[in-house]
Amino acid sequence: MPPLSCKVYTPVPLARALVGALGDGESAKWLEPSVGLGAFLQALTDLGIPPDRITAVDLETTACPTDRLANTERGTDFLDWSRQTSIRFDRIVGNPPYVAIRNLSTRLQASALMTTNLFGGGVPKGANLWVAFLFASLGVLKTGGALGFVLPASWDYATYAVDIKAGMTCLFADLEEHRSQRPLFDQVSDGSVVIIARGFRTGQTSWRRFEHPNRDFLIRCLELERHARTRTNERLVTSVRSQPDCHPLREVIDIRLGGVTGDASYFLLSESSRRRHKLPIECLTPVVSRASHLRGSEIGAREWRWLLRADERTWLFNPPDGCLGHHAVRRYLNIVQSEGGCERSAFKIRNRDPWYRTPLPIPCDGFLSGMSSHGPWVCLRVMRELSATNTLYTIRFRNARTKDEKAAWALSLVSEETRAQLATIGRVYPGGLKKYEPGDLGRIPVLAPARVIGAIAAYKRVITMLCAGHSSLAAETASRWLSGRIQFD
Ligand SMILES: C[S@@+](CC[C@H](N)C(=O)[O-])C[C@H]1O[C@@H](n2cnc3c(N)ncnc32)[C@H](O)[C@@H]1O
Repeated sequence: MPPLSCKVYTPVPLARALVGALGDGESAKWLEPSVGLGAFLQALTDLGIPPDRITAVDLETTACPTDRLANTERGTDFLDWSRQTSIRFDRIVGNPPYVAIRNLSTRLQASALMTTNLFGGGVPKGANLWVAFLFASLGVLKTGGALGFVLPASWDYATYAVDIKAGMTCLFADLEEHRSQRPLFDQVSDGSVVIIARGFRTGQTSWRRFEHPNRDFLIRCLELERHARTRTNERLVTSVRSQPDCHPLREVIDIRLGGVTGDASYFLLSESSRRRHKLPIECLTPVVSRASHLRGSEIGAREWRWLLRADERTWLFNPPDGCLGHHAVRRYLNIVQSEGGCERSAFKIRNRDPWYRTPLPIPCDGFLSGMSSHGPWVCLRVMRELSATNTLYTIRFRNARTKDEKAAWALSLVSEETRAQLATIGRVYPGGLKKYEPGDLGRIPVLAPARVIGAIAAYKRVITMLCAGHSSLAAETASRWLSGRIQFD
């Protein structure tokens, strides 16, 4: 008998959304490793998947009416079963039991601890049964297959989960994590994460994380993501490219690297370090220096001061000639490297004259990060003296003049049509981080906006959605606004 703490059943709407997010494939074989009362079997049947394509297992012996919706094996330990079976599955979906392995019967504990992961390691000491279920499921998943699990919050906070997450990002082409701030179940507070992993062993491309206030938002987001995928990228790409008013992004905006300091730890200062060094404001340039500094559709003095108050590194040490006599500036220039001074031998620094002045890009219309988890988007600049350094790019619109014109092009960049093109560019760095270089971005085709008036208000809404992790909803809203299907006042 499974422990009672294992018995929390997934609400059918959540099961449907998860099954939909994985999507069926031609004659795909499905597995539900801990079927319980059969919420996922119901969802699979609703999707039209016949019983002969579904295998279900549960330790519980009591039969359920939904058992007939699959080849159901009751009274079976899934972990043991996974080591014996020769069947391999295209899709594995479920809500595995959450119980500390040490609380299981001796027999089940032994079975759980015998489970190995694909890197040859075992189930970590002190882990929960869901870990063994995840490892055992990966052992019976076909190359190219997909897996969707409802998991407890320990996916996010348990020490042993850190390596599991890292391993998952290497094993799958696409890993989505959905976290709900409120529990996903009505009966218990555990269970707050959904993971969707696609493209098993087919290359490492993306890892996306979504935060949702509750289950309903999470379900809606899974549905929208599916919707966005099934309106195949190919169709969008073809339709965009065949439009007469479609331009490579480089014809619309000029993208440049932000100032390259050569030694960020010396040149970039927070307000507290500026005060500590008693540096006058005249020797500093206000900057944004990382993707997380871009938090809304535009950045003005108010938003920049929030960053300053949060003690982010938002000052660039960049003294003009008139400041060089100031004693604090002189002292800062003369700090030796071993005591926090500049690494003057660094390539970018030794080749410039004077060494302490970072060349900054010409005044710009906005900032863009090539490494944002939300894909590339423009944060419009409304603070005149603000510049960017390090990982951020600056952008200038080549022809757009008014604020609405600029926002309309920025909307086009985040629209569904443009997002569909992004799959074809971007470089993946260790850890799964995707980066878009200015040259790559310049090649993406973007549609000329069909409307402009009111674009600022629409862009504000869309970027709020994007920054909250609702990227599909944001892209869909941008497309709907641009094509005149919705209005914001
Ligand atoms: C959290 S419930 C989830 C049930 C179902 N997947 C759902 O989402 O509604 C976990 C299920 O795992 C089953 N279970 C516990 N240990 C098991 C094991 N070693 N092998 C197979 N099933 C097990 C329990 O009987 C229970 O039905």
